Amino acid sequence: MSSSLQVLWIVVLLCASILAYAAASAVDDCASFKLVNVTNTVVTSRTFYKTGDNVTVVNAVQSVSKNDLPAFCRIELTIITNATANSSAHTEVWLPEAWNTRLVTLGTGGFSGGAAVLDLAVTAVKQGYAGMSTDSGHQADQADGSWAGPHNDNAIADYAWRAVHLSVLSAKEVVKQYYGREQKKSYFLGCSNGGRQGLKEVQDFPDDFDGVVVGSPANSFDRVLASIAHTAVLILPVNSSRSISEDTWTNVIHPEVLKQCDVLDGVADGIISDPRVCSFRPETLTCLPQQNTSTCLTLDQVDTLHKLYTDYYETNQTYVFGGFYPGGETGMLSSPPALPVVIDAYRYMIANDTTWDLDRFDFSAILQAEFVFSAQMNADSPNLTSFASGPHSGKIIHYVGWAENSIPAGGSLHYYETVHSWMRANVGSIDMDSFYRLFPVPGMQHCMGGFGPVSFGGGSQAGAGYPALKNDAEHDILAAMVRWVEDGVAPEAIIGTAYKNNTVAEGVAFTRPICKYPATAIYHGGDVNKAASFRCV
Ligand SMILES: *[C@@H]1O[C@H](CO)[C@@H](O)[C@H](O)[C@H]1NC(C)=O
Ligand SMILES: *[C@@H]1O[C@H](CO)[C@@H](O)[C@H](O)[C@H]1NC(C)=O
Ligand SMILES: *[C@@H]1O[C@H](CO)[C@@H](O)[C@H](O)[C@H]1NC(C)=O
Ligand SMILES: *[C@@H]1O[C@H](CO)[C@@H](O)[C@H](O)[C@H]1NC(C)=O
Ligand SMILES: *[C@@H]1O[C@H](CO)[C@@H](O)[C@H](O)[C@H]1NC(C)=O
Ligand SMILES: *[C@@H]1O[C@H](CO)[C@@H](O)[C@H](O)[C@H]1NC(C)=O
Ligand SMILES: *[C@@H]1O[C@H](CO)[C@@H](O)[C@H](O)[C@H]1NC(C)=O
Ligand SMILES: *[C@@H]1O[C@H](CO)[C@@H](O)[C@H](O)[C@H]1NC(C)=O
Ligand SMILES: *[C@@H]1O[C@H](CO)[C@@H](O)[C@H](O)[C@H]1NC(C)=O
Ligand SMILES: *[C@@H]1O[C@H](CO)[C@@H](O)[C@H](O)[C@H]1NC(C)=O
Repeated sequence: MSSSLQVLWIVVLLCASILAYAAASAVDDCASFKLVNVTNTVVTSRTFYKTGDNVTVVNAVQSVSKNDLPAFCRIELTIITNATANSSAHTEVWLPEAWNTRLVTLGTGGFSGGAAVLDLAVTAVKQGYAGMSTDSGHQADQADGSWAGPHNDNAIADYAWRAVHLSVLSAKEVVKQYYGREQKKSYFLGCSNGGRQGLKEVQDFPDDFDGVVVGSPANSFDRVLASIAHTAVLILPVNSSRSISEDTWTNVIHPEVLKQCDVLDGVADGIISDPRVCSFRPETLTCLPQQNTSTCLTLDQVDTLHKLYTDYYETNQTYVFGGFYPGGETGMLSSPPALPVVIDAYRYMIANDTTWDLDRFDFSAILQAEFVFSAQMNADSPNLTSFASGPHSGKIIHYVGWAENSIPAGGSLHYYETVHSWMRANVGSIDMDSFYRLFPVPGMQHCMGGFGPVSFGGGSQAGAGYPALKNDAEHDILAAMVRWVEDGVAPEAIIGTAYKNNTVAEGVAFTRPICKYPATAIYHGGDVNKAASFRCV
């Protein structure tokens, strides 16, 4: 053997043994991990997964079964949230070997009830982030609120804010003690109730995060319940003169919406870039005498649509909640999918009466919700100065589907505008763009889905079959946040992707910029399937 070959062999053997040692020590580090100095937190389980291992985890809310993940250590925690009450949260912290030095907290939708294990896998570990997610203090289906009753104050506080906050503190300690150094930056990503969790943290615990990405937030929680109940009252019971079937939404109303609104952005492609510029007139669909009612609308249905597409004000003109924008009809059902959440919130948290039902919903029920639980549940304070101007110079990216079919997009615009006017009145010259950017997504329904550039790395999208085209700052909203926080480059637009039939395997149908509010994507020529053919104006 020549001497150079000998040297090569020695190097190869050395590398192999270093790798073997590193792998063995990673396994040992995980298996023997102890958390010290965190008195409210018990490590209940440690599991090391090698690259490509079968990772199968199931809980009440999410499940993951993957064998394409890089090596990571899964730490499960029980966090005592109130020792007197013996209340606790189950929290997961997933720690990749090839760590990108960041921590991301992943939010949970509905009533929460289980850590977002799928998102921990595909959004955190797969991209090198250490990830944390919590069940918010109870284990149950996301639509089941019975754990909160009868008015279990500790369980409600855990769900409202406490479990997430305490989990962030513990996760930061886990990261520090596992890797031997603190995370460089701490991020949040979540949609719906997850969006509420992110904004609650921004408002109450401004030190927890450097960058928070929130989607379709249920941040005015009491008003969101009210808007869903209001929708239900307008369209139920099924088969009444005012009820609207899925068929009618999709095949009668949606085509008329497109006819009136689609071309206003310069291209008739089934996507409404900005529905605010369209004054949709549902009365054009009113049935003529003798007309077959499966092709037109009754007067009651027309009236329902007018009410659904309008912001809701109390008689004294006080704003209560925002309306839907035209465009989301194909996602509308004959009964609102989130109605069980509303009914359980009233039964177990607000009215303390397990017989409460929709027939008891009226304006006084809205006030009752506001009175009983808005202080801990809502995240609608416009004062964000501690987060934005504090030591973290925190950043917020907020997105919402223009075609929202569950939490009306009007609420997102209202919150953004409320912060804007509050800042102007109280902080003078502050520039919203320096810390808070809103991105309404053309054609997107609640958190994902719809007809539009709906895949861009938003909360839970990747796991649900809507992955970003690339995990870079142009196409992935979390990567855009990282670039903003770490490099000071703020996003003007995110390029969203539409897969053919919303199916990744069928390939890309088109890309399109998702513009920073209040700008809109307007076609200026070229291939309509390319983001570059649109400008944000
Ligand atoms: C735990 O606390 C003790 C006493 O404050 C300190 O000396 C030690 O470094 C801490 N250990 C860790 C891992 O933080
Ligand atoms: C992975 O593990 C789960 C549960 O342990 C099992 O049901 C599944 O069949 C396994 N998948 C593969 C591909 O081995
Ligand atoms: C902890 O629980 C006890 C018993 O339910 C309650 O009295 C107390 O107010 C709770 N403390 C906090 C901080 O929630
Ligand atoms: C506290 O709750 C745990 C389950 O979370 C239970 O195992 C334990 O027995 C409870 N302790 C007391 C004193 O009730
Ligand atoms: C509504 O009407 C359809 C068609 O007549 C019928 O199949 C369905 O059962 C009815 N639904 C309810 C809830 O009454
Ligand atoms: C109304 O139209 C529907 C769908 O086009 C059809 O199935 C139904 O038979 C028609 N009803 C009447 C009374 O013509
Ligand atoms: C309007 O009515 C709401 C609910 O009754 C009340 O809270 C609010 O103070 C009123 N606003 C004005 C301006 O009177
Ligand atoms: C439900 O219980 C909570 C806590 O005990 C209380 O604050 C609230 O007023 C009750 N609601 C009603 C309608 O009595
Ligand atoms: C905004 O909140 C901070 C604390 O979070 C407080 O110090 C400040 O006074 C508030 N600003 C106004 C104008 O209320
Ligand atoms: C979508 O799927 C349907 C059948 O499910 C098929 O007919 C259609 O061609 C597909 N469209 C695209 C754009 O792939």
